[in-house]
Amino acid sequence: MKLYNQGATPPSVTSAVSFAGLIEKIEILRSTLRWASRLDRPEIEKLLKQATTLRDEVMGLSHKERFVQAASATEAAPPQEEVERMPRERRQALMERSFIFEGTFGDNPKLLEALEIAEKAAPTDLPVLIDGESGTGKELMAKVIHANGARTDKPFISVNCGAIPDSLLESELFGHKKGAFTGASNDRRGKFESAHTGTIFLDEIGELPLTGQVKLLRVLEAHEIQRVGSDEAISVDTRIVAATNKDLRSMSQAGTFREDLFYRLSVIHVSLPSLRERRDEIPLLVSYFSDEAAGMLKRLPLKLTPRLRDFLLHYDYPGNIRELRNLMYRLSCLAGDTADLAHLPQDIRPKPATLAVVGSGTATADITMATSLSEAKRAASDEAERAFLERGLQEVGGTVAELARRFDMNRSHLQMLLKKHGIHSKDFRANRQAEGGKG
Ligand SMILES: Nc1ncnc2c1ncn2[C@@H]1O[C@H](COP(=O)(O)OP(=O)(O)OP(=O)(O)O)[C@@H](O)[C@H]1O
Ligand SMILES: [Mg+2]
Repeated sequence: MKLYNQGATPPSVTSAVSFAGLIEKIEILRSTLRWASRLDRPEIEKLLKQATTLRDEVMGLSHKERFVQAASATEAAPPQEEVERMPRERRQALMERSFIFEGTFGDNPKLLEALEIAEKAAPTDLPVLIDGESGTGKELMAKVIHANGARTDKPFISVNCGAIPDSLLESELFGHKKGAFTGASNDRRGKFESAHTGTIFLDEIGELPLTGQVKLLRVLEAHEIQRVGSDEAISVDTRIVAATNKDLRSMSQAGTFREDLFYRLSVIHVSLPSLRERRDEIPLLVSYFSDEAAGMLKRLPLKLTPRLRDFLLHYDYPGNIRELRNLMYRLSCLAGDTADLAHLPQDIRPKPATLAVVGSGTATADITMATSLSEAKRAASDEAERAFLERGLQEVGGTVAELARRFDMNRSHLQMLLKKHGIHSKDFRANRQAEGGKG
């Protein structure tokens, strides 16, 4: 977007200055300052020089352009009262501006701030760095940025930098020429070419080896790539969105991530909150994903026992929203009408001493509530039996005959035990399909 009026302004002043270009330079400068833990004198001099150049470039814009720039800057920075508005209103305002959420759910202020930054960044081609713990919605946010920009009907290409072996990295990203290396039987284009005119999402960018970082930097600077084994430079017009769950600043200080690449990628920086920072939204997320799972699995929405609900509201969710979502799908699939603690994955299930016992699908007694030792023993043994059967069914994908063979048990006795615990083998068959179908 060039704002200057070619006719009204001397070309010598405006030829290299564009509004988007200026914003990008300002953002790089801001990002440099934001991430600098300590600046030495030469660095301060360098930044001052950059700031002076920027000021001269702004002054080089005609009066009219400066006016437009000032007006749009006022538009871009919302008044303080807007920032402080209630979260629901902020979400509502995004909706009224036809913002595309791509299913991003929640009114947490930090999440809304991320969405508001995404809204402003989307129409530009500035690089965006998204950070957040695993499962906080980084890829979803990258899709939000793509969907709200002018490239929305162009390709969105996702690359997991951590999953490509070093030896294949260059060919994956930039493609190769036939015969470039053993096995290169055809010309092949890489992810950057596939993402031409669209967006490339570089996931787990912190895993990119240093050699790959150098090559990526070159693409960011020159907007062109070379296929492995070819001298021909191919122009690529690709918007870059990168994501990481690592602290790239510490990595660049430790020398494992190039500082210049870090500044280049983080012109716009979006940070996503962990689920622990938005605990107040867990009840809403539980019912949101419970409904979603019921719809997808074609079941009635799940009922939760009070103790399971209590667990879900207080659990720590190291895997964040992804973990919560997967849990709700699992519960929806494994439980009948009502899910209980016993339907949780074993590794996160509270210790048996605090578990209630489920008989024929109905909670009957809590081990800790047992009034006699024999009652407590029976309760604990029932619970162990149930967990054993569930784990076994999961391992054999819900085939009772296979489970009977594996446990060397009589099949009808096994059926009887399953009935006693209200366990349906078909639930485990559906579970396997659902997990196989998920990305
Ligand atoms: N705010 C949200 N609202 C609804 N669903 C969400 C939200 N955030 C994340 N999700 C869902 O959680 C799951 C994980 O999200 P995503 O893959 O974007 O996370 P991530 O940060 O990229 O994870 P990882 O670091 O493990 O790659 C997806 O199914 C996504 O749709
Ligand atoms: Mg991801």
